[in-house]
Amino acid sequence: MIKKVQVISLFPEMFEGVFNTSMMWKAQKEKAVEFSLINLRDFGVGPRKQVDDTPYGGGDGMLLRPEPLFAAVETAKAADPSAKVVLMTPRGQRWLQKTAQAWADDTRGLIFICSRYEGYDERIVNLVDEQVSVGDYVLTGGELPAMTVIDSVVRLIPGVLGGETSAQIESFSDGKTLEFPQYTRPEQFRGMKVPDVLLSGHHGEIAKWRQENSKKAE
Ligand code: ADE
Repeated sequence: MIKKVQVISLFPEMFEGVFNTSMMWKAQKEKAVEFSLINLRDFGVGPRKQVDDTPYGGGDGMLLRPEPLFAAVETAKAADPSAKVVLMTPRGQRWLQKTAQAWADDTRGLIFICSRYEGYDERIVNLVDEQVSVGDYVLTGGELPAMTVIDSVVRLIPGVLGGETSAQIESFSDGKTLEFPQYTRPEQFRGMKVPDVLLSGHHGEIAKWRQENSKKAE
């Protein structure tokens, strides 16, 4: 079943390179996923298509107004009524591999809201099913975080990575272990040698070495 991923952003063009390259491009070609980009500016208020305004109570900067965001989400929901609405924000739940796996397993579509500027009118949280942060640092907008989340989900949709034994190789599949170091040809390069155990052909020893050399995630 094709998963619909819709992105609401003031800079939809930022996604074009990412969606049209490599795994994400292949995922669309194989009809595992369908991306659509929604320009928040199209839902701006008045003749100047205003999307932001100053905060009540004073303060620096501009906040995204609720009306364009509500209208954009309503448009996205009309195209995919059961979709989960996700707000990218440094105040959200930290993004984890196990959540990526759960969302990839869920056939429901996704609608991402990428905030910009200094923030958004808090009333938009009423639209949202999940608030997600990619880490405890602040980026200029939710676009890069949304790309991170989308990439981590789409690659786990069955069939996207192809027939290779990605689930086996990818020690991430237990949700806790980070990938072990890997080597390819040549065996010797500038005095650096591939660990002997990997050349040994002993599958048991190799598995043990990989286990010992995997990092643990929280
Ligand atoms: N927008 C700005 N910073 C972010 C972060 N760390 N995670 C998600 N969205 C963001």
